[in-house]
Amino acid sequence: MNSTEQGIRMEKVCYSVGGRQILVDFDLHLERGVDRTILGVSGVGKTTILKLLLGLLPADSGRITIDGRDIAGLPEKELIGLRKKIAIVFQGGALFDSMTVGENVGYRLFEEGKLTAAEIERIVLEKLGFVGLERAIDLYPAELSGGMKKRVAIARALAAEPDYIFFDEPTTGLDPIGVYNICQLMLRLQKEGKTTLMVTHDLQTAFAVSKRFSFLHNTRLIFEGTQEELIAARLTETREFFTPTERSLFVYNNTTESEGP
Ligand SMILES: Nc1ncnc2c1ncn2[C@@H]1O[C@H](COP(=O)(O)OP(=O)(O)O)[C@@H](O)[C@H]1O
Ligand SMILES: [Mg+2]
Repeated sequence: MNSTEQGIRMEKVCYSVGGRQILVDFDLHLERGVDRTILGVSGVGKTTILKLLLGLLPADSGRITIDGRDIAGLPEKELIGLRKKIAIVFQGGALFDSMTVGENVGYRLFEEGKLTAAEIERIVLEKLGFVGLERAIDLYPAELSGGMKKRVAIARALAAEPDYIFFDEPTTGLDPIGVYNICQLMLRLQKEGKTTLMVTHDLQTAFAVSKRFSFLHNTRLIFEGTQEELIAARLTETREFFTPTERSLFVYNNTTESEGP
C-alpha cells in the first residue's frame, strides 16, 4: 500500500444512508489494464460504489485508494486532479440536451481551456469515430436513439483520455443491436489496454464483456472471481441471475399490472 501502487482499491469500506447499511466491509481491487464487473440486483448499492470511488460520497469507514493515494480527506483541488483519471458513463448517458453531440463530447476539454478549438475538434472527431458516430456531430441528443446516446456518452468519457472508465448499467434499456454495439465498444477499449469497471444487474452483458466479477448481495461482497468460478460456485444468491425463477416472474407480472391503465 504505497503511493507507487497503480490501480483502484477499496478496503473494508462501509457506507450507510438514512441509518441503512448499504455496504459492509466491501473490498475491491481494480488493477491497471484489467476489466471487472460488479454484479448485483437493482438497489443493492452498485452506483453508490462508483460515487464512493469518485469521492462524491464519503465512506463511513474503510479505505479507498486511487493509484496509491487515499482519497479520504484530500483537499478538493487534489480530489479533482484524481477524478480526472476517471471517466464515468452514467446510466442515463447524462448528455446536455441544449448542446450538440460534438459540443457534448468536447465539453470538458473546452472547460479546461488548455487546447485550441481546432485541437478539440480533432479529438471530438476521433472519439466520435471510435463509437461510429462522426456523422452525428451536429445533431442534438433528442434526435438520437438510446443506443446512440450511450455511444456519445462513451465518446465524451474518452475525450478526457482517462486512465479508468466506469460504466453504470451501460446496456440497460437498449434493444439487442444497441446492447451488441455497446458490448463491442467495451471489448475494444479493453483491447486497447483501458482499465474498465462496469456495474450492472445484466448477467448477459457482464459475461459478454468481463472476465472478472464481484458480486454484491445484501451489503456484502459474496463472490469474487472468474466467470467459470461464478458458474461453478452455484450460490443461492446468484441463482436468479441465471434463470428467472417463478418468484421473479411474479414480480415482473406485478410490475406490469400496476403500471397498466
Ligand atoms: N440519498 C439517498 N437517501 C436514501 N437512500 C438512498 C439515497 N441514495 C441511494 N439510496 C439507497 O441506496 C441503495 C443503493 O442505491 P444504488 O447504489 O443506486 O443501487 P444500484 O445502483 O445497485 O441500483 C438503494 O436502495 C437506494 O434506495
Ligand atoms: Mg444504479
